[in-house]
Amino acid sequence: MENETLTITDNRTQKAYTVPIFRGTIRAMDLRQIKTDPEDFGLMTYDPAFMNTASCQSAITYLDGEKGILRYRGYPIEQLAEHCTFLEVAYLLLNGDLPTKDELDTWNYDVMRHSMIHENLKKFMDGFHHDAHPMGILLSTVAALSTFYPDGRAVNDAKYRRKQVVRLIGKMPTLAAYAYRHRLGRPYIYPDPELCYTKNYMNMLWKRTEPNYVANPVLARALEVLFILHADHEQNCSTSAMRVVGSSNADPYATTAAAISALWGPLHGGANEEVLRMLDEIGSKDRIPAFIEEVKEGHRKLMGFGHRVYKNYDPRARIIKQVAEEVFEVTGRNPKIDIALELEKIALNDEYFVKRRLYPNVDFYSGIIYQAMGFNPDQFTVLFGIPRTVGWLAQWQEMMSDTDKKIARPRQIYIGEEKRDFVPLTLREHKHELVGV
Ligand SMILES: CC(C)(COP(=O)(O)OP(=O)(O)OC[C@H]1O[C@@H](n2cnc3c(N)ncnc32)[C@H](O)[C@@H]1OP(=O)(O)O)[C@@H](O)C(=O)NCCC(=O)NCCS
Repeated sequence: MENETLTITDNRTQKAYTVPIFRGTIRAMDLRQIKTDPEDFGLMTYDPAFMNTASCQSAITYLDGEKGILRYRGYPIEQLAEHCTFLEVAYLLLNGDLPTKDELDTWNYDVMRHSMIHENLKKFMDGFHHDAHPMGILLSTVAALSTFYPDGRAVNDAKYRRKQVVRLIGKMPTLAAYAYRHRLGRPYIYPDPELCYTKNYMNMLWKRTEPNYVANPVLARALEVLFILHADHEQNCSTSAMRVVGSSNADPYATTAAAISALWGPLHGGANEEVLRMLDEIGSKDRIPAFIEEVKEGHRKLMGFGHRVYKNYDPRARIIKQVAEEVFEVTGRNPKIDIALELEKIALNDEYFVKRRLYPNVDFYSGIIYQAMGFNPDQFTVLFGIPRTVGWLAQWQEMMSDTDKKIARPRQIYIGEEKRDFVPLTLREHKHELVGV
């Protein structure tokens, strides 16, 4: 459209510039022409934490945080959670369309065929301390996969990219289950490609001496739904890490390890673990008002609440709340759900949270379900990482074939010292307090 432009007047020079508006954005590089004189570098944008910057174009996930809408490749998350298996959704995210029956059969077979890990990787895992955090084990072993699959470095070849994608999706549950069993000192259980993705994972986690472990179908379906809900969430912190690291053409194992590291933080995927610790600490409903006061006074955060993009109820939290009731029918009610429901009720009516548009996010209820299913809190972020690997890889594949792809390299505003001359050691003045570590 002709009027899809923006005219900017630089009040320093009185010059006007017209730049095109492209899909509701202006290109930051179009600002570079705005200069005070020919020596001037040109105008840049300053946007710490990318609050208002689109870093890519993507056709994978649509999110409207104002309205609480989430869609994968155009399909509402509610419909996918109701009708699909996790691997069906994985296929959709990676390929753009839902698979036909034949495509799904082949895809299931391929992924499950790649669920084994090299025996040397098991030895590598044995080196971790008995109480090593499973996220630490997961990110290290995913990075180590790059040493087993050097063809992963052929990142400019779509065929090789595809191979690593299938390998990673196939191996994530195995690595996660081995990390879990390592902690308990139990022998590792080999993957069973005859089982579906989630039942195989449950088998590797919980099989003991019985000849055939049979996963409870309600719990397996609940896990499947939780995996679907966590599979992608457009340009969040870990996905951005995936794209930034991948933009240097690092191999997908090293790149995925970087994404796992980002996910681990308590402000991102690590929040589900923190929610459980918070609910434990609150302990009973009568202690909620005092806790809310502490939050409002700024002493702490209500974990599992708030989101950079959702300024409405997170649609995933709504689905998880329903799944929780189905899980409790099997496992018995996790008493923490009642504390969580009461916290939500109070928070949603309290001016502090209403004014800041803070709603429960995906992490608020997921941990309560995971705990009822038998997972320890330090396992929760791993349960986020397994399905999110699909989203990371879908975004990575998209980036690698994007004609706009360049190595990520932001600019800065330098605020340090002006040029100064070197001072010999004996003439330097003591300026900093000496602190030993
Ligand atoms: C997710 C999160 C990091 C988003 O942060 P953000 O987009 O930078 O939002 P801000 O930190 O600017 O928050 C805006 C305001 O709400 C407050 N706020 C945000 N989340 C809050 C929370 N969970 N509890 C209490 N106050 C919160 C902030 O203190 C800030 O208040 P102010 O305007 O008085 O300073 C943040 O909401 C958070 O830390 N939540 C808890 C961790 C969590 O559940 N993470 C999982 C996300 S899926």
